[in-house]
Amino acid sequence: MKAVILAGGTGTRLRPLTTLLNKHMLPVGRYPMIHYAIDKMKEAGITDILLITGRATAGLFITYFGSGAEFGVSITYRIQEEAGGIAQALDLANPFIGTNEKFVLLLGDNLFEDSLTRFAEQFEKQASGAMVLLKHVPDPRRYGVPTFDESGQSIVRITEKPKMPDTSYSVTGIYFYDSSAFDLIAGLTPSERGELEITDLNNAYARLGKLTYMVLNGWWTDAGTFESLHEAAVRMMGTPPTVD
Ligand code: G1P
Repeated sequence: MKAVILAGGTGTRLRPLTTLLNKHMLPVGRYPMIHYAIDKMKEAGITDILLITGRATAGLFITYFGSGAEFGVSITYRIQEEAGGIAQALDLANPFIGTNEKFVLLLGDNLFEDSLTRFAEQFEKQASGAMVLLKHVPDPRRYGVPTFDESGQSIVRITEKPKMPDTSYSVTGIYFYDSSAFDLIAGLTPSERGELEITDLNNAYARLGKLTYMVLNGWWTDAGTFESLHEAAVRMMGTPPTVD
């Protein structure tokens, strides 16, 4: 299984910290945020990694990781020229992912405790489709929120930042896909904010009855706001990464 890590975006909610520095390079504990994303892949034995970032700060990532060899992984880089949404950025991974190949997509600002190993193993057993990881959260309105079918076995739809959430789960920024993701992205249209939304891709899988889920046991946070960045830093001081 390969990995795609997204580390672009403008980080508007973290200005002025992100005026000069890409969000994913901000310090979280003793390391830049992106270090943990690479570490999670390494821990799960997923070593073939595509890192997608923006033009202005791509050099920082290359300076920090190089080829990835000293971290025990292989990193390929791609540049997202313009911010057009998570699904648009993911489309840049199309040449990196082979036909009939499965992969994990991680939003680089998602920090979490669980190892990805058991999720990757479970998804390898799934014949086709996609799988999202969920986390029980106090305020699901900030996130994508799943609605389950009657059996509770699969997701019938995800609603992005709903005012009245159906459940108290957040869809985290950890997604597993088969290579049909790229055909489904080709069928997406931009949302009201002009972006190709990852939730629309997941809903395309849900309409096919092919969107499964698993739930994270440990803590999870997206470090996209000052509060969550602080929370991530406090947590990570206690649990340093395995790749040092
Ligand atoms: C994105 C997704 C959302 C998901 C979240 C997790 O939101 O659109 O469904 O719950 O990541 O971090 P964003 O943080 O870009 O607003």
